[in-house]
Amino acid sequence: MSLPKACIFDLDGVIVDTVPAHYVAWKAMADELNIPFSEEDNEHLKGLSRTESMLKILELGNVTKSENEIADYTTRKNNIYVEIISKMTPQDILPGVLDFIQQLKDNGIATAIGSSSKNTPTILKAVGLDTTFDAIVDGNQVTHSKPDPEVFLKGAAKLGIKPEECVVLEDAISGVEAAKRGGMKCVGVGDPSVLGAADVIVPDLTKMNLGILRNL
Ligand code: G6P
Ligand code: MG
Repeated sequence: MSLPKACIFDLDGVIVDTVPAHYVAWKAMADELNIPFSEEDNEHLKGLSRTESMLKILELGNVTKSENEIADYTTRKNNIYVEIISKMTPQDILPGVLDFIQQLKDNGIATAIGSSSKNTPTILKAVGLDTTFDAIVDGNQVTHSKPDPEVFLKGAAKLGIKPEECVVLEDAISGVEAAKRGGMKCVGVGDPSVLGAADVIVPDLTKMNLGILRNL
């Protein structure tokens, strides 16, 4: 078995732990709408765009809103979210991330970010990773969010590497599906009961290594 030519990382929940911040901000909107919204519900929003997430929350509560109202909720959600993430520092990089990226670089494996988030540039800058990756594709550059494979296929294209030579690292159900639909191998980062469709699952990146990549 050989090593892949590239690793494409999801951002939220893989590189930085922004999942609680997304939850707090969405929960504030759901509370206003009297829609019950649990952390498990939030799990299903991971990887979806901001607007798609809002639509899912409305669907959960069987509530209909106009396009303008939806835009207002998503803007206010994002204001709460940005307030939290603007305080992030390099300390907020998840355990194992920097070591694993260094191992990839030492072995000539390209690295990219493939995220649905339009806040990707802000987050990467805040945690000091804005010049770390060979390519970045985020929510500002795609038309279809995960589970559509567009974000990962664009990442592979930017790197000039074939999809089948890329491995995706993902914490979202929608992200694992996007990787598979893009013809890429996928390492699930998190809970095996949620990420069963991934080729291999690690609890976090401290458990990630080149041996796992080689065996995919
Ligand atoms: C990531 C997160 C989602 C979030 C999406 C859009 O995929 O997992 O929870 O909704 O990005 O993020 P944004 O920062 O653009 O609102
Ligand atoms: Mg994620």
